[in-house]
Amino acid sequence: MAYNLNVLLRYLILSDVHSNLEALEECLAAAQGKFDEALCLGDLVGYGPDPNPVVERVRGICRVIVRGNHDKACSGVTGTEDFNPMARIATEWTRKRLSTEHLSFLRALPAGPIEVDGLELVHGSPRDEDEYVVDSYDALYILEELSFPLVFFGHTHIQGGFAIDAQGRCTAICCHSPSTSAPFTLQIAEGARYLINPGSVGQPRDGDWRAAFAIFDADQRAVAYYRVPYDVATTQKKMRLERLPDPLIQRLQWGR
Ligand SMILES: [Fe+2]
Repeated sequence: MAYNLNVLLRYLILSDVHSNLEALEECLAAAQGKFDEALCLGDLVGYGPDPNPVVERVRGICRVIVRGNHDKACSGVTGTEDFNPMARIATEWTRKRLSTEHLSFLRALPAGPIEVDGLELVHGSPRDEDEYVVDSYDALYILEELSFPLVFFGHTHIQGGFAIDAQGRCTAICCHSPSTSAPFTLQIAEGARYLINPGSVGQPRDGDWRAAFAIFDADQRAVAYYRVPYDVATTQKKMRLERLPDPLIQRLQWGR
């Protein structure tokens, strides 16, 4: 199945914002005027200090939002048994801070996969919303079974993704260098299938602390991967004031 060529929109793809308002605002400022519709791959909340403002902003701007594992845990859809102790503390803190309205909103978010104009949106993978697709071995079997040529996923907080060409060759998409600010553009090839990860807005884990997002231009058949610096010190200061776990504060400046 091809994506819908009658809908030649530019889609802003956001994922894993994790209650980081400073990172989100920088991404939205950098993307301003470059997209027609916004889509979100889940994990609006968890870890960061601003769950309510982030939910407000994301729901105001995104046409479609799939739920992430932290959205489920922070709104009580699931427990925190699978989380490490620090994620558990942040989840419990977030649960107490979320407004009743935002808790209901998060609880009602749909599970992926969701189809939008012939694109597929998932948090983890098309076969399991909580699966981590980290390397080419994970990706290969998923790519071979894709129902759509373009699938957008998050969850790993690693910008890039994977592709399989018409001959069945699987490759990882390495798209960022911490020393560059220009977006990396991936041209979508005919007959190939892609798992595209825009990276994490609010808690990158690929060694680059800058906030990550992507824009897919259906007309140009291209994905542009962006990295933008944000005021990480302010986010960390807010987290310290809320006594959120120190390793969660530290990791933001390392992108780990
Ligand atoms: Fe996440």
